Amino acid sequence: MRFNMVALMLLAVACVPGQRNVKFQQYYAEGEVLYQQHCANCHQADGSGLGKLYPPLAKSDFLLNDTEAVVCLIKYGVAGEMNVNGVIYNKPMPGIPTLTDLEIAEIATYIFNSWGNSRQMVEVNQVSPILEACSKAP
Ligand code: HEC
Repeated sequence: MRFNMVALMLLAVACVPGQRNVKFQQYYAEGEVLYQQHCANCHQADGSGLGKLYPPLAKSDFLLNDTEAVVCLIKYGVAGEMNVNGVIYNKPMPGIPTLTDLEIAEIATYIFNSWGNSRQMVEVNQVSPILEACSKAP
């Protein structure tokens, strides 16, 4: 009985194409929870943003083009003029310095792969050196 359960679990894992996919699902699910908690207030649950105040994340050219900037602004915030899909936004976004590198990777994976966005997952070992670099930026 016990053996059968293990065999069944192995079969289930084998059916998912590649380990990366299991990891992706974990990152994505955690990222969604964190997004609802920390970001949806401003950027909305569907990533559409809010008028001229908060830029959209759904199909945002900014987000799709600049992984480093996205990772850094989640932790450290951002201010000044920002062009998103041809619209200028200019309102400071507060950072969340208490988020761990893993949590930031999960959030990035979620927003990069939701609402029509389609990018690679962002792993924690990619996030750590990026954060290290932008923590030293002026
Ligand atoms: C208090 C409101 C607020 C919260 C909360 C907030 N943001 Fe933002 N976000 C902004 C504003 C305002 C800007 C534009 C900043 C500027 O004009 O310089 C922005 C810009 C961005 C951008 C770059 C522009 C774009 O649309 O692609 C990304 C990516 C982003 N935020 C992601 C997030 C994520 C992820 C979270 C949660 C961890 C979050 N934001 C939480 C207000 C917010």
